[in-house]
Amino acid sequence: MKPSAAQLCLRPYDEGDLQSVVSLFYDTIHSVNLKDYTPEQADAWAPKKPDLSRWQGLLKGEDTWVAVQDGRIVGFANRDGEYFDCLYVHKDYQRRGVAKALAERIEGRAAAEGHAKIRTNASLTARPFFEQRGYAVVRRQCVHRAGHVLVNFAMERSIQK
Ligand SMILES: CC(C)(COP(=O)(O)OP(=O)(O)OC[C@H]1O[C@@H](n2cnc3c(N)ncnc32)[C@H](O)[C@@H]1OP(=O)(O)O)[C@@H](O)C(=O)NCCC(=O)NCCS
Repeated sequence: MKPSAAQLCLRPYDEGDLQSVVSLFYDTIHSVNLKDYTPEQADAWAPKKPDLSRWQGLLKGEDTWVAVQDGRIVGFANRDGEYFDCLYVHKDYQRRGVAKALAERIEGRAAAEGHAKIRTNASLTARPFFEQRGYAVVRRQCVHRAGHVLVNFAMERSIQK
């Protein structure tokens, strides 16, 4: 039976969450995303030594939410206006509705601010999730990171009420 997401709680990001969020980002990319990207691409995307001050600025500066279950952070998402920036779920909590809950929160807040659409740059791994939520691919993109090329997709959907 699929584990229940009933105990899942969403709350705004707090500065003290930085280490957990950055570790989750690293661990997810170096496990879940390896089905679509090489280890070298994963290193370029999520280097072992992250720039913590850049991360803190990004997470504090945007509309950032964390998902908590079993007393730990199991996912996070953030948004800058109509741009849905990050969406990462802990490797041990995949396919339990964590991303769905975070996306509903992010999209709902964008709609409440009056945005007519929401857009994102989805990884190869996340594309099916966003397609299932009604996002359409606008274009395929090649992102250059630390000497590597990573493919992702500009996607968007209407969120007009
Ligand atoms: C993409 C990601 C965020 C999805 O998180 P998740 O919590 O596992 O997704 P959910 O459980 O909320 O999925 C909801 C629905 O989306 C669809 N879905 C999610 N992942 C899918 C996949 N890999 N393939 C096909 N459909 C998928 C399914 O319809 C799913 O419902 P179901 O499980 O009842 O079939 C997660 O896999 C992840 O962290 N990926 C790596 C990080 C990443 O690439 N992030 C995006 C950066 S742009």
